[in-house]
Amino acid sequence: MSNSIIVKNKIKNFNKEIVVGGDKSISIRWVLFSSLANGKSKAENLLMSKDVIAAIKTIKKLGIKVKLKKSTCEIYGKGINGYQIKKNLIINAENSGTLGRLILGLLINIPHSIKLVGDKSLSKRDFKRVSDPLSNFGANFKLTNKKNLPLVLRGSSNLKPFKYQENRGSAQCKSAVIFGGMRTEGTTYIRAKKSRNHTELLCKYLKLPIKIRERKKYDLIEVNKVKKIKTLNYKIPSDISSAAFFMALIALSNNSELIIRNVNINPSRLGIITILKKMGVRIMFRNKKNYKGEEQADIKIKSPKKLKAINFPSALNSCAIDEFLVIFLVAAKAKGISYFKDLAELNQKESPRLKWGAKILKLIGAKTIITKNSIKIIGKPNLRINKKIVIKNYLKDHRVFMTSIIAALSFGGEWHIHDKDSIKTSFPNFLNIINDLKK
Ligand code: S3P
Repeated sequence: MSNSIIVKNKIKNFNKEIVVGGDKSISIRWVLFSSLANGKSKAENLLMSKDVIAAIKTIKKLGIKVKLKKSTCEIYGKGINGYQIKKNLIINAENSGTLGRLILGLLINIPHSIKLVGDKSLSKRDFKRVSDPLSNFGANFKLTNKKNLPLVLRGSSNLKPFKYQENRGSAQCKSAVIFGGMRTEGTTYIRAKKSRNHTELLCKYLKLPIKIRERKKYDLIEVNKVKKIKTLNYKIPSDISSAAFFMALIALSNNSELIIRNVNINPSRLGIITILKKMGVRIMFRNKKNYKGEEQADIKIKSPKKLKAINFPSALNSCAIDEFLVIFLVAAKAKGISYFKDLAELNQKESPRLKWGAKILKLIGAKTIITKNSIKIIGKPNLRINKKIVIKNYLKDHRVFMTSIIAALSFGGEWHIHDKDSIKTSFPNFLNIINDLKK
């Protein structure tokens, strides 16, 4: 079967309800916490994407039993020290930065060599950002080219806590150090720039020895060694980063309406909602509830009467970090000049996404001014495409593929979009939902 797709027609107006896949960040964290619990944990609606399956394969390699059923997953943890480490162990995080970085924190207490590898895209990404802080506990790392995978970790049974300042707003770095702190006698202190806090919320729900003091721009976290983790039965909410593609589709349409069911609306993930509302898109939360520490709701979203340009506040960058590609598309149709800054982190993702954003905008005929870490987008409310566009997604970035589909359905033209398989990373059901909306 061909791994590319041709989109020729703009989507017609629709008024529907959809459910998108389970949250990827929470799914991976559920797998990791459950692998250390004492006994059986069960998840419903676990995201069955390649990143999460890579996490399941990883804990299986560490000797943990997993049962996958039709709609549930069961993990049989053997306690906090229950991992079995085989000689010459190789862990493959495939495309997942979250898995690759978080698992290192959990393995720093093991005094044997463990190799971590990843796919082509992950092997280009920066792992020094986690190996540096984790080395401060006393673990030893050997990286390729001083910053990349493959890397070899040799942990220590004599870890020492330290004070860590996380300045990037990276939840992956923060979580790796929280996991390291959970392995270490004494108190690990973290001062972390705001970023998604699913790890902390799960720690709190599980009553692990963690203290969090929230400040306006950063959080102060204290972690102590964990002796025991209780089992974790969890119904994973839908992923706002997957919902974001459909929010953008509505934002770019004239007379459509959508309800997206049961989405995680953790405040640290709401950048896309804050921004689309400011741009004129009508968005409401319904049936809001708290589930085991995480907020969730149905999202009702209606086309805007007018789309306004925005000056994106960089304090919100980490709350929208996975959504910028679609936010850029929306800005291309907004009246006025939109400005996004301090975005160097965007080029550190599965592919250099600031560059990709600019490339897609150029292809659709929107004017941009791009620097190393910022982009200005000169919006054109009547933007339309009448030509053939080919997207070759060389690092197979799932979000580049899905953003291109949203652009094709919103602006018209004839699109040939390669690397359809990339959606398996985070959102295997994406094209089925698109087809339902077309009906
Ligand atoms: C994630 C954190 C973010 C995000 C990624 C998932 C997580 O990365 O881009 O898709 O689950 O912790 P950074 O923490 O590196 O910004």
